[in-house]
Amino acid sequence: MNLDKVVCNCLNVTIGMIKDAVDAGASTLDEVQDATGAGTVCGACIEDVEHLVEFFVKERKQ
Ligand code: FES
Repeated sequence: MNLDKVVCNCLNVTIGMIKDAVDAGASTLDEVQDATGAGTVCGACIEDVEHLVEFFVKERKQ
């Protein structure tokens, strides 16, 4: 996975920034939105952000 890929174009939030938020304790879409702002402007990226949150939460639990 390319952690430098931008997932939220509105705020230039990268996949790595989603991962960092989850590693720092965020476990839900809401918490990641609070931490990164991803998905809080136009909303077009929300589904992608949600999938990434689920993925990194699972990865964190292993
Ligand atoms: S692309 Fe993420 S809020 Fe617009």
